[in-house]
This record gives sequence, structure tokens and C-alpha cells, in this order.
Amino acid sequence: MTDKLKALIDRLEAEHTLKKEEWVALFDGYDDETREYAAKKARETAQSVFGNKIYIRGIVEFSNVCKNDCLYCGIRCSNSNAVRYRLTEEEILSCCDEGYKYGFRTFVLQSGEDHKEYPASRMAEIVRMIKKAHPDCAVTLSLGEMEYEDYKLMKEAGADRYLLRHETASKELYEKLHPQSMSFEHRMQCLKWLKELGYQTGAGMMIGAPYQTSEHLAEDMLFLRSFEPHMIGTGPFLPHSDTPFRDMPKGSYELTLFVLSLCRLMLPDVLLPATTALGTIRPNGREQGVLSGANVIMPNLSPTAVRKKYMLYDGKICTEDSSDECRSCVQARMKSIGYEVEITRGDHR
Ligand code: SAM
Ligand code: FES
Repeated sequence: MTDKLKALIDRLEAEHTLKKEEWVALFDGYDDETREYAAKKARETAQSVFGNKIYIRGIVEFSNVCKNDCLYCGIRCSNSNAVRYRLTEEEILSCCDEGYKYGFRTFVLQSGEDHKEYPASRMAEIVRMIKKAHPDCAVTLSLGEMEYEDYKLMKEAGADRYLLRHETASKELYEKLHPQSMSFEHRMQCLKWLKELGYQTGAGMMIGAPYQTSEHLAEDMLFLRSFEPHMIGTGPFLPHSDTPFRDMPKGSYELTLFVLSLCRLMLPDVLLPATTALGTIRPNGREQGVLSGANVIMPNLSPTAVRKKYMLYDGKICTEDSSDECRSCVQARMKSIGYEVEITRGDHR
């Protein structure tokens, strides 16, 4: 680790911001020692905000039908090998009921962009149904891009949070990762609407997405700094064999951990999941994510029968396990590194 990089990390910790060229210098120049230095500081920062507590969210992947065609994603509409499914209201609620028994107090409803079948009005009813059954729980939605009135309707129905990764803060890179029919400006607009409507809002990007450079990542950090999301969802890009990016190299595990640490130092109280993709790229990736500053884990609550069908990338973990197995597994993993899973909604402060 050079003195210059060490000084940048010290300054990030003190001032929570860096200039673009400084971010680039970190991404271009870091080595294991730099990464571990940042991880130690990030871990201490997370512990000063959250103690040794980890928040858990149960994720219900209720439909893998998607009208979009993101070049990286296994459930993109032109993947004709994907076997499509949709869960009913009853099935979604029964996943949440089961989750509640295992101590989940946040349910994340995620899907492809299946807005014809699940318009905002139907999602609003689903949110009401879950809130009625479990008034002490938070509901997070992750349904992709919609319009202002849609987000408003679902917020009024009681939705608390919304996860919409910005994917990349660079329009030029965005257009390499998405078909022409998708718009960088609209995605960014959605994030602004969500925040304006009072959702606890999550942004984020894949690490090592095809064509991504240190400059792009620097732009992501600047965007996150100025947008100040309540959550940052970030994990490595992993190729899916039925997508145009099948032969692209996967993102770097080490760089993902480094980015997690830098996010923690930049936004000390941000909710920062150690993602499933991180657990897929390395068997103990989620533990290392927590030791690098993450404070959230999102085990799967989807019915085991459909899990393999929500295959965003090859090799996704937890597709064989039941919800209680995922819950116990995560608890044991956290315990093994000295952390405890907390039964709480785990709102942003
Ligand atoms: N449709 C919603 C949306 O667009 O926000 C939610 C579902 S989408 C599949 C959830 C996230 O999965 C995306 O934001 C993307 O970052 C991530 N993802 C998709 N394909 C991936 C891949 N091949 N490797 C890693 N992450 C991927
Ligand atoms: Fe569904 Fe990208 S392929 S949102």
C-alpha cells in the first residue's frame, strides 16, 4: 500500500468524500494491504453504528417474467431457456407468514419488470395484505422502473422501501449494458421520484460489469455520494450462459469487498447488504462482506420449487434450500464471525 492510497482512505474516513481522480487512483492502485486497511476501518465504522448486529431481510422473488432485455441478466425477455413463473397473492403471503416465524421483519418483494401482470394497483393490494397480516414489518419493493403515480400508489399502500440499482452512473456504460429501448435518464429519474416520495431508497451497481473501468466506478461513487441512498446494493457481475455476456469475465471478488468498505466509509450509516452474488462468487463471501463493512443479509424466502427459475446468473446459491435452512445458515455464518442476526425491521436511521 502506498502512502498516497493510505492517506486517501484516511481522508475518506474523516471527510466522507473524495474527488473523481482520487477514486480512480484507489481503484487503479489498490492491493490486498490497501483493501484490508479499508476493510478494518469500514468494519469499525459499521460496528460504531450497528454494533455486532446484522439486519436480515427475507426476499420473495415472486415473478421472473421481465419485459426488459438487460444484456447481463438471466431472466431477460429474450432468454427463451428461462422457465417462467408467477406467484399468486396467497403464495406471496404464505412466504411472508413463514418468514415471520423465522424472525424476518422486512419482506423484499422482487421480480422482473412484469408490470402488465402486476401493475401498481395489484402491488398496492399485495402491500396492504402483507401490512395487515404483519403490521410490525417493513415491505421493500424491487420491481424495476415504473412511473411517479405508480410509486406513489404503492407508497400510500404502505410500502416502506424500494431497491432500484442505478446499475451505472455512466450513460455511456449504461448503453453498453442495456438495449436501446431502456433509458439511463428514466432510471435516474425513478430514483429521484422514489426518494421524493419518502421511500427508503436503495441504489447500487454491479462490480466488474462488462466494459466497466475505474473511471466508471469513480462516477458511481460520486453519484452515491450526492444521491445519498439509504441502501446500497452492490455485488460482483456474474455471467449467465444464456445471455450475450456469457463469455465475459466475472467481476472481481476482492474489488467487490473493497467497494463495500469504501461505501461504508463514505456513508457510515448506509444499509449495506452482503449480497447473494458475493456469496456465489466465494463460499464465505457474505461473511467477508460483513467483515468489510456490510450490515445486511437478504436470505431467500421464495418457495423452493421456483428458486432455480430466478436465475440471474450461473451458479446462484441457496436454490436448493428451504427458507428455514437459509435463515439458520445465515445465522450460523454470522455467529462464526462474531455477529448476531437481529429480529427487527432494521430501518435506516
Ligand atoms: N427488475 C428489477 C430491477 O430491474 O431493478 C429487480 C430485479 S433485477 C434482476 C435485480 C438486480 O440483479 C439488478 O439490479 C442487477 O444489478 C442484478 N443482476 C442481474 N443480472 C446479474 C448478473 N448477471 N450478475 C450480477 N447481478 C445481476
Ligand atoms: Fe429484467 Fe433487466 S432483464 S430488468
